[in-house]
Amino acid sequence: MDLVVEGKVYYRGAFENCCIGIENGKIVEIKKILTGDNHINFGKKLILPAGVDIHVHFRDPGMTHKEDFSSGSTAAAYGGISCVFDMPNTIPQTITLENLSDKIDSAGNKSYIDFGVFAGVTSENLSLIEKLGKKSSGFKIYLGNTTLSLFFDKLKLREALDLIGITGKPVLFHAEDEECLIKFKNKEVGISDHMRFRPSSCEELSIKEIIESSKNLTTRVHICHVSSCEGLEFLKKRPSNITCGVTPHHSLLNVKKNMGSETLFKVNPPIRTSFDKESLFNGLKNGVVNVIESDHAPHTQDEKNVDFDSAPSGLPGVETMYPLFLYLAKKQVLTFQRLISLMCVNPASIMGIQKGKIDIGYDADFVIIDLNNESRIKSERLHSKCKWSVFEDWPAIFPDTVFIRGEKIIQDDEIQVKQGFGNYIGA
Ligand code: NCD
Ligand code: ZN
Ligand code: ZN
Repeated sequence: MDLVVEGKVYYRGAFENCCIGIENGKIVEIKKILTGDNHINFGKKLILPAGVDIHVHFRDPGMTHKEDFSSGSTAAAYGGISCVFDMPNTIPQTITLENLSDKIDSAGNKSYIDFGVFAGVTSENLSLIEKLGKKSSGFKIYLGNTTLSLFFDKLKLREALDLIGITGKPVLFHAEDEECLIKFKNKEVGISDHMRFRPSSCEELSIKEIIESSKNLTTRVHICHVSSCEGLEFLKKRPSNITCGVTPHHSLLNVKKNMGSETLFKVNPPIRTSFDKESLFNGLKNGVVNVIESDHAPHTQDEKNVDFDSAPSGLPGVETMYPLFLYLAKKQVLTFQRLISLMCVNPASIMGIQKGKIDIGYDADFVIIDLNNESRIKSERLHSKCKWSVFEDWPAIFPDTVFIRGEKIIQDDEIQVKQGFGNYIGA
Protein backbone atom coordinates (compact mmCIF):
# COMPACT_ATOMS: atom_id res chain seq x y z
CA MET A 1 0.00 0.00 0.00
CA ASP A 2 1.44 3.45 -0.99
CA LEU A 3 -0.32 5.40 1.70
CA VAL A 4 -2.58 4.84 4.70
CA VAL A 5 -4.59 7.74 6.13
CA GLU A 6 -6.17 7.27 9.55
CA GLY A 7 -8.72 9.35 11.46
CA LYS A 8 -12.44 9.80 12.06
CA VAL A 9 -13.61 8.89 8.58
CA TYR A 10 -17.00 9.68 7.07
CA TYR A 11 -17.73 6.23 5.64
CA ARG A 12 -21.09 4.99 4.29
CA GLY A 13 -23.14 7.60 6.10
CA ALA A 14 -21.46 7.69 9.52
CA PHE A 15 -18.18 8.56 11.27
CA GLU A 16 -15.84 5.67 12.04
CA ASN A 17 -12.31 5.58 13.45
CA CYS A 18 -10.52 3.71 10.69
CA CYS A 19 -7.80 3.60 8.04
CA ILE A 20 -8.03 4.34 4.32
CA GLY A 21 -5.61 2.45 2.08
CA ILE A 22 -4.50 4.23 -1.11
CA GLU A 23 -2.73 2.93 -4.20
CA ASN A 24 -2.11 4.90 -7.39
CA GLY A 25 -4.33 7.72 -6.16
CA LYS A 26 -7.34 5.46 -5.56
CA ILE A 27 -8.94 4.11 -2.41
CA VAL A 28 -8.31 0.36 -2.34
CA GLU A 29 -9.18 -0.62 1.23
CA ILE A 30 -11.00 0.73 4.27
CA LYS A 31 -10.40 -1.11 7.55
CA LYS A 32 -9.99 -0.57 11.30
CA ILE A 33 -6.26 -1.30 10.99
CA LEU A 34 -4.07 -1.09 7.87
CA THR A 35 -0.32 -0.81 7.35
CA GLY A 36 1.41 1.00 4.51
CA ASP A 37 4.76 2.46 3.39
CA ASN A 38 3.54 5.81 4.57
CA HIS A 39 1.02 6.10 7.44
CA ILE A 40 -0.54 9.42 8.46
CA ASN A 41 -2.66 9.47 11.61
CA PHE A 42 -4.97 12.48 11.93
CA GLY A 43 -6.22 11.35 15.35
CA LYS A 44 -9.57 12.88 16.26
CA LYS A 45 -9.77 15.07 13.17
CA LEU A 46 -12.50 14.37 10.62
CA ILE A 47 -11.71 12.92 7.21
CA LEU A 48 -14.45 13.88 4.74
CA PRO A 49 -14.62 13.59 0.96
CA ALA A 50 -13.35 16.74 -0.80
CA GLY A 51 -16.06 18.83 -2.45
CA VAL A 52 -16.98 18.88 -6.15
CA ASP A 53 -18.18 22.21 -7.58
CA ILE A 54 -20.11 21.75 -10.82
CA HIS A 55 -20.47 25.49 -11.51
CA VAL A 56 -17.51 27.89 -11.71
CA HIS A 57 -16.49 30.72 -14.04
CA PHE A 58 -12.68 30.79 -14.00
CA ARG A 59 -12.66 33.50 -16.76
CA ASP A 60 -9.83 31.80 -18.61
CA PRO A 61 -9.32 32.52 -21.50
CA GLY A 62 -10.17 36.14 -22.16
CA MET A 63 -10.83 37.76 -18.78
CA THR A 64 -7.82 36.71 -16.77
CA HIS A 65 -7.76 40.06 -14.98
CA LYS A 66 -10.83 38.74 -13.05
CA GLU A 67 -9.50 35.19 -12.49
CA ASP A 68 -7.52 32.51 -14.29
CA PHE A 69 -7.24 28.77 -13.93
CA SER A 70 -4.27 29.10 -11.62
CA SER A 71 -5.88 31.56 -9.16
CA GLY A 72 -9.33 29.98 -9.43
CA SER A 73 -8.04 26.48 -8.75
CA THR A 74 -5.90 27.77 -5.86
CA ALA A 75 -9.02 29.29 -4.29
CA ALA A 76 -10.92 26.04 -4.82
CA ALA A 77 -8.10 23.98 -3.27
CA TYR A 78 -8.00 26.13 -0.11
CA GLY A 79 -11.77 25.70 0.13
CA GLY A 80 -11.52 21.90 0.08
CA ILE A 81 -12.72 21.41 -3.50
CA SER A 82 -10.93 18.70 -5.50
CA CYS A 83 -12.69 19.19 -8.80
CA VAL A 84 -14.51 22.03 -10.59
CA PHE A 85 -16.47 22.27 -13.82
CA ASP A 86 -15.90 25.45 -15.81
CA MET A 87 -18.63 27.34 -17.67
CA PRO A 88 -18.41 28.31 -21.37
CA ASN A 89 -18.96 32.10 -21.14
CA THR A 90 -15.28 32.90 -21.57
CA ILE A 91 -13.69 34.86 -24.44
CA PRO A 92 -13.78 33.09 -26.84
CA GLN A 93 -16.86 31.18 -25.77
CA THR A 94 -16.41 27.42 -25.45
CA ILE A 95 -18.73 26.55 -28.35
CA THR A 96 -16.46 24.96 -30.97
CA LEU A 97 -14.20 21.90 -30.83
CA GLU A 98 -11.15 24.08 -31.24
CA ASN A 99 -12.05 26.44 -28.39
CA LEU A 100 -12.89 23.46 -26.21
CA SER A 101 -9.52 21.76 -26.85
CA ASP A 102 -7.65 25.02 -26.32
CA LYS A 103 -9.35 25.58 -22.96
CA ILE A 104 -8.69 22.00 -21.82
CA ASP A 105 -4.98 22.24 -22.80
CA SER A 106 -4.43 25.62 -21.21
CA ALA A 107 -6.31 24.78 -18.01
CA GLY A 108 -4.40 21.51 -17.84
CA ASN A 109 -1.14 23.46 -17.63
CA LYS A 110 -2.41 25.84 -14.96
CA SER A 111 -4.79 23.95 -12.68
CA TYR A 112 -3.87 22.73 -9.18
CA ILE A 113 -7.02 20.63 -8.95
CA ASP A 114 -8.92 18.29 -11.25
CA PHE A 115 -11.39 19.93 -13.60
CA GLY A 116 -14.00 19.47 -16.30
CA VAL A 117 -15.20 21.85 -18.99
CA PHE A 118 -18.68 22.52 -20.34
CA ALA A 119 -19.42 23.20 -24.00
CA GLY A 120 -21.95 25.96 -24.60
CA VAL A 121 -24.97 25.31 -26.80
CA THR A 122 -26.15 28.27 -28.89
CA SER A 123 -28.86 28.51 -31.53
CA GLU A 124 -26.12 28.06 -34.16
CA ASN A 125 -24.01 25.09 -32.99
CA LEU A 126 -26.56 22.29 -32.60
CA SER A 127 -24.86 20.37 -35.41
CA LEU A 128 -21.71 20.19 -33.26
CA ILE A 129 -23.39 18.63 -30.22
CA GLU A 130 -22.40 15.07 -31.05
CA LYS A 131 -18.71 15.93 -31.46
CA LEU A 132 -18.62 18.36 -28.53
CA GLY A 133 -20.17 15.63 -26.40
CA LYS A 134 -17.18 13.36 -26.95
CA LYS A 135 -14.68 15.88 -25.61
CA SER A 136 -16.59 17.99 -23.07
CA SER A 137 -17.81 17.09 -19.59
CA GLY A 138 -21.30 18.25 -20.48
CA PHE A 139 -23.29 21.15 -21.90
CA LYS A 140 -24.55 24.53 -20.73
CA ILE A 141 -27.58 26.39 -22.06
CA TYR A 142 -28.52 29.95 -21.09
CA LEU A 143 -32.26 30.55 -21.52
CA GLY A 144 -32.00 34.14 -20.30
CA ASN A 145 -29.46 36.84 -20.79
CA THR A 146 -26.87 37.16 -18.01
CA THR A 147 -23.23 38.29 -17.75
CA LEU A 148 -21.49 37.35 -21.02
CA SER A 149 -24.05 34.65 -21.69
CA LEU A 150 -24.51 32.71 -24.92
CA PHE A 151 -27.69 33.25 -26.87
CA PHE A 152 -30.04 30.31 -27.24
CA ASP A 153 -33.48 30.43 -28.90
CA LYS A 154 -35.91 28.40 -26.81
CA LEU A 155 -37.77 27.21 -29.93
CA LYS A 156 -34.81 24.86 -30.40
CA LEU A 157 -34.94 23.52 -26.85
CA ARG A 158 -36.54 20.16 -27.61
CA GLU A 159 -34.14 19.53 -30.49
CA ALA A 160 -31.11 20.38 -28.34
CA LEU A 161 -32.31 18.17 -25.47
CA ASP A 162 -32.85 15.32 -27.90
CA LEU A 163 -29.36 15.64 -29.42
CA ILE A 164 -27.66 16.01 -26.03
CA GLY A 165 -29.48 12.89 -24.82
CA ILE A 166 -27.68 10.88 -27.50
CA THR A 167 -24.27 11.99 -26.16
CA GLY A 168 -25.14 10.70 -22.67
CA LYS A 169 -23.66 13.87 -21.14
CA PRO A 170 -25.57 16.14 -18.72
CA VAL A 171 -26.87 19.58 -19.67
CA LEU A 172 -26.94 22.43 -17.17
CA PHE A 173 -29.40 25.32 -17.48
CA HIS A 174 -29.43 28.95 -16.54
CA ALA A 175 -33.21 29.01 -16.15
CA GLU A 176 -34.65 32.51 -16.55
CA ASP A 177 -36.98 33.03 -19.52
CA GLU A 178 -35.60 35.73 -21.84
CA GLU A 179 -38.98 37.06 -23.11
CA CYS A 180 -40.13 37.37 -19.52
CA LEU A 181 -36.91 39.17 -18.49
CA ILE A 182 -37.34 41.65 -21.36
CA LYS A 183 -40.93 42.33 -20.30
CA PHE A 184 -39.88 43.37 -16.78
CA LYS A 185 -36.56 45.02 -17.65
CA ASN A 186 -36.14 48.51 -16.20
CA LYS A 187 -33.38 50.78 -14.98
CA GLU A 188 -32.11 49.43 -11.65
CA VAL A 189 -30.97 51.80 -8.92
CA GLY A 190 -30.34 49.28 -6.15
CA ILE A 191 -30.45 45.65 -5.09
CA SER A 192 -34.22 45.53 -4.48
CA ASP A 193 -34.80 46.72 -8.07
CA HIS A 194 -32.71 43.81 -9.32
CA MET A 195 -35.04 41.40 -7.54
CA ARG A 196 -38.17 43.23 -8.81
CA PHE A 197 -37.04 43.60 -12.42
CA ARG A 198 -35.84 39.98 -12.70
CA PRO A 199 -38.84 38.41 -10.93
CA SER A 200 -39.13 34.80 -9.83
CA SER A 201 -41.97 34.33 -12.35
CA CYS A 202 -39.31 34.33 -15.13
CA GLU A 203 -37.43 31.56 -13.34
CA GLU A 204 -40.58 29.57 -12.70
CA LEU A 205 -41.65 29.86 -16.37
CA SER A 206 -38.25 28.77 -17.62
CA ILE A 207 -38.14 25.74 -15.30
CA LYS A 208 -41.62 24.79 -16.49
CA GLU A 209 -40.46 25.00 -20.13
CA ILE A 210 -37.38 22.86 -19.48
CA ILE A 211 -39.41 20.16 -17.73
CA GLU A 212 -42.00 20.14 -20.51
CA SER A 213 -39.41 20.02 -23.30
CA SER A 214 -37.60 17.10 -21.71
CA LYS A 215 -40.75 14.97 -21.43
CA ASN A 216 -40.16 11.34 -22.48
CA LEU A 217 -36.45 11.98 -22.96
CA THR A 218 -33.75 10.41 -20.80
CA THR A 219 -31.40 13.40 -21.17
CA ARG A 220 -29.72 14.27 -17.85
CA VAL A 221 -30.90 17.79 -17.06
CA HIS A 222 -29.61 19.99 -14.22
CA ILE A 223 -31.22 23.31 -13.28
CA CYS A 224 -28.55 25.65 -11.90
CA HIS A 225 -28.82 28.14 -9.06
CA VAL A 226 -32.55 27.98 -8.23
CA SER A 227 -33.28 31.30 -6.50
CA SER A 228 -36.96 31.35 -5.60
CA CYS A 229 -39.54 29.53 -3.55
CA GLU A 230 -41.79 29.35 -6.65
CA GLY A 231 -39.04 27.85 -8.81
CA LEU A 232 -38.27 25.22 -6.20
CA GLU A 233 -41.95 24.44 -5.63
CA PHE A 234 -42.26 23.59 -9.30
CA LEU A 235 -39.24 21.29 -9.14
CA LYS A 236 -40.83 19.16 -6.43
CA LYS A 237 -42.78 17.33 -9.14
CA ARG A 238 -39.81 16.73 -11.44
CA PRO A 239 -38.91 13.41 -13.10
CA SER A 240 -35.80 11.60 -11.83
CA ASN A 241 -33.52 12.61 -14.73
CA ILE A 242 -33.83 16.25 -13.64
CA THR A 243 -31.65 17.56 -10.78
CA CYS A 244 -31.26 21.02 -9.32
CA GLY A 245 -28.71 23.10 -7.46
CA VAL A 246 -28.75 26.02 -5.05
CA THR A 247 -25.88 28.41 -4.26
CA PRO A 248 -24.62 29.52 -0.83
CA HIS A 249 -25.62 33.13 -1.64
CA HIS A 250 -29.25 32.27 -2.48
CA SER A 251 -29.69 30.00 0.54
CA LEU A 252 -27.87 32.18 3.11
CA LEU A 253 -28.54 35.78 2.02
CA ASN A 254 -31.60 37.92 1.33
CA VAL A 255 -32.21 41.48 0.20
CA LYS A 256 -32.41 43.87 3.14
CA LYS A 257 -31.55 47.43 4.10
CA ASN A 258 -27.91 48.38 4.74
CA MET A 259 -26.31 45.46 2.91
CA GLY A 260 -23.24 47.58 2.19
CA SER A 261 -22.02 47.90 -1.41
CA GLU A 262 -25.14 46.71 -3.19
CA THR A 263 -23.42 46.03 -6.52
CA LEU A 264 -21.37 43.26 -4.84
CA PHE A 265 -24.63 41.39 -4.21
CA LYS A 266 -25.83 41.85 -7.81
CA VAL A 267 -26.04 38.37 -9.29
CA ASN A 268 -28.27 36.42 -11.69
CA PRO A 269 -30.70 35.09 -10.80
CA PRO A 270 -31.06 37.69 -8.04
CA ILE A 271 -30.75 37.20 -4.31
CA ARG A 272 -34.38 37.57 -3.16
CA THR A 273 -36.46 37.76 0.05
CA SER A 274 -35.89 36.04 3.40
CA PHE A 275 -38.85 33.85 2.50
CA ASP A 276 -37.10 32.63 -0.68
CA LYS A 277 -33.85 32.11 1.22
CA GLU A 278 -35.56 30.00 3.85
CA SER A 279 -37.40 27.81 1.33
CA LEU A 280 -34.12 27.19 -0.51
CA PHE A 281 -32.33 26.32 2.73
CA ASN A 282 -35.17 23.94 3.60
CA GLY A 283 -34.76 22.40 0.15
CA LEU A 284 -31.12 21.70 1.02
CA LYS A 285 -32.14 20.09 4.30
CA ASN A 286 -35.04 17.98 3.05
CA GLY A 287 -33.43 16.63 -0.12
CA VAL A 288 -35.51 18.50 -2.72
CA VAL A 289 -32.24 20.14 -3.81
CA ASN A 290 -29.51 17.79 -5.10
CA VAL A 291 -26.40 19.96 -4.96
CA ILE A 292 -24.79 23.07 -3.58
CA GLU A 293 -22.92 24.84 -6.39
CA SER A 294 -20.92 28.04 -5.97
CA ASP A 295 -21.55 29.77 -9.33
CA HIS A 296 -18.14 31.34 -8.58
CA ALA A 297 -18.37 34.39 -10.87
CA PRO A 298 -15.65 36.90 -9.92
CA HIS A 299 -15.52 40.49 -11.14
CA THR A 300 -12.95 43.04 -9.96
CA GLN A 301 -13.80 45.61 -7.31
CA ASP A 302 -13.30 48.36 -9.89
CA GLU A 303 -15.79 46.70 -12.24
CA LYS A 304 -18.33 46.48 -9.40
CA ASN A 305 -17.61 50.00 -8.18
CA VAL A 306 -19.93 51.75 -10.66
CA ASP A 307 -23.62 52.73 -10.64
CA PHE A 308 -25.91 49.77 -9.90
CA ASP A 309 -27.45 49.48 -13.36
CA SER A 310 -24.05 49.27 -15.13
CA ALA A 311 -22.43 46.86 -12.66
CA PRO A 312 -21.81 43.29 -13.87
CA SER A 313 -23.72 40.45 -12.19
CA GLY A 314 -21.85 37.68 -10.41
CA LEU A 315 -19.94 37.06 -7.19
CA PRO A 316 -17.09 34.76 -6.06
CA GLY A 317 -17.72 31.71 -3.86
CA VAL A 318 -15.69 28.60 -4.66
CA GLU A 319 -13.36 29.00 -1.66
CA THR A 320 -15.99 29.80 0.96
CA MET A 321 -18.75 27.34 0.01
CA TYR A 322 -17.63 24.18 1.84
CA PRO A 323 -16.16 26.07 4.87
CA LEU A 324 -19.43 28.01 5.42
CA PHE A 325 -21.50 24.84 5.37
CA LEU A 326 -19.01 22.87 7.50
CA TYR A 327 -19.56 25.49 10.19
CA LEU A 328 -23.34 25.10 9.81
CA ALA A 329 -23.01 21.31 10.06
CA LYS A 330 -20.94 21.69 13.23
CA LYS A 331 -23.73 23.89 14.62
CA GLN A 332 -26.23 21.19 13.58
CA VAL A 333 -28.13 23.52 11.27
CA LEU A 334 -27.94 20.65 8.79
CA THR A 335 -26.53 17.14 9.16
CA PHE A 336 -23.11 16.04 7.92
CA GLN A 337 -24.92 13.43 5.90
CA ARG A 338 -26.95 16.03 3.97
CA LEU A 339 -23.93 18.29 3.61
CA ILE A 340 -21.78 15.54 2.09
CA SER A 341 -24.56 14.48 -0.29
CA LEU A 342 -24.98 18.08 -1.45
CA MET A 343 -21.32 19.04 -1.64
CA CYS A 344 -19.61 15.78 -2.69
CA VAL A 345 -21.68 12.69 -3.56
CA ASN A 346 -24.43 14.19 -5.73
CA PRO A 347 -22.33 16.64 -7.77
CA ALA A 348 -19.85 13.84 -8.57
CA SER A 349 -22.64 11.49 -9.58
CA ILE A 350 -24.32 14.13 -11.81
CA MET A 351 -20.99 14.54 -13.63
CA GLY A 352 -20.34 10.79 -13.66
CA ILE A 353 -16.94 10.93 -11.93
CA GLN A 354 -15.37 8.60 -9.33
CA LYS A 355 -15.05 11.30 -6.69
CA GLY A 356 -17.05 12.70 -3.78
CA LYS A 357 -17.13 9.52 -1.73
CA ILE A 358 -14.75 7.71 0.60
CA ASP A 359 -15.20 4.19 -0.70
CA ILE A 360 -13.31 1.52 -2.60
CA GLY A 361 -12.54 2.47 -6.22
CA TYR A 362 -13.00 6.21 -5.71
CA ASP A 363 -10.27 8.84 -6.07
CA ALA A 364 -8.46 9.48 -2.77
CA ASP A 365 -9.73 13.07 -2.46
CA PHE A 366 -10.22 14.16 1.17
CA VAL A 367 -10.35 17.15 3.43
CA ILE A 368 -9.02 16.96 6.99
CA ILE A 369 -11.23 18.98 9.31
CA ASP A 370 -10.62 20.12 12.85
CA LEU A 371 -14.04 21.23 14.07
CA ASN A 372 -12.40 23.48 16.68
CA ASN A 373 -10.66 25.40 13.93
CA GLU A 374 -13.36 28.08 13.51
CA SER A 375 -12.39 31.31 11.80
CA ARG A 376 -13.99 34.35 10.18
CA ILE A 377 -13.93 34.79 6.42
CA LYS A 378 -11.56 37.64 5.52
CA SER A 379 -11.37 38.59 1.85
CA GLU A 380 -7.71 39.57 2.04
CA ARG A 381 -6.93 35.96 3.00
CA LEU A 382 -8.88 34.43 0.09
CA HIS A 383 -7.11 33.36 -3.10
CA SER A 384 -9.41 34.53 -5.89
CA LYS A 385 -8.01 37.46 -7.85
CA CYS A 386 -11.05 39.57 -6.99
CA LYS A 387 -10.27 39.81 -3.23
CA TRP A 388 -13.79 40.47 -1.99
CA SER A 389 -16.58 38.31 -0.62
CA VAL A 390 -20.24 38.79 0.24
CA PHE A 391 -19.50 36.52 3.22
CA GLU A 392 -16.95 38.85 4.83
CA ASP A 393 -16.70 38.06 8.57
CA TRP A 394 -19.01 35.03 8.39
CA PRO A 395 -17.90 32.12 10.59
CA ALA A 396 -16.42 29.17 8.71
CA ILE A 397 -14.27 26.06 9.10
CA PHE A 398 -11.51 25.77 6.50
CA PRO A 399 -9.77 22.41 5.96
CA ASP A 400 -6.31 21.87 7.55
CA THR A 401 -5.14 19.55 4.82
CA VAL A 402 -6.52 18.65 1.39
CA PHE A 403 -5.71 15.52 -0.61
CA ILE A 404 -6.33 14.88 -4.30
CA ARG A 405 -5.66 11.39 -5.68
CA GLY A 406 -3.68 10.56 -2.55
CA GLU A 407 -1.41 13.64 -2.84
CA LYS A 408 -1.42 16.39 -0.24
CA ILE A 409 -2.25 19.52 -2.17
CA ILE A 410 -2.77 21.89 0.79
CA GLN A 411 -0.95 21.67 4.11
CA ASP A 412 0.22 24.35 6.61
CA ASP A 413 -1.59 26.97 4.55
CA GLU A 414 0.66 26.27 1.54
CA ILE A 415 0.04 24.68 -1.86
CA GLN A 416 2.09 21.47 -2.01
CA VAL A 417 1.87 20.60 -5.71
CA LYS A 418 2.94 22.23 -8.96
CA GLN A 419 0.69 24.03 -11.40
CA GLY A 420 -0.68 21.50 -13.83
CA PHE A 421 -1.15 18.83 -11.13
CA GLY A 422 -4.86 18.97 -11.95
CA ASN A 423 -6.16 16.49 -14.52
CA TYR A 424 -8.94 16.94 -17.03
CA ILE A 425 -11.71 14.52 -16.10
CA GLY A 426 -15.34 13.96 -16.77
CA ALA A 427 -15.18 13.44 -20.51
C1 NCD B 1 -22.35 34.73 -14.17
C2 NCD B 1 -21.05 35.31 -14.71
O1 NCD B 1 -20.63 36.41 -14.29
O2 NCD B 1 -20.38 34.64 -15.53
N1 NCD B 1 -23.05 35.77 -13.50
C3 NCD B 1 -23.99 35.62 -12.55
O3 NCD B 1 -24.59 36.61 -12.16
N2 NCD B 1 -24.26 34.44 -12.03
C4 NCD B 1 -23.17 34.12 -15.26
C5 NCD B 1 -24.29 33.23 -14.74
O4 NCD B 1 -24.04 32.15 -14.20
O5 NCD B 1 -25.45 33.58 -14.87
ZN1 ZN C 1 -26.28 31.35 -14.52
ZN1 ZN D 1 -22.88 30.74 -13.56
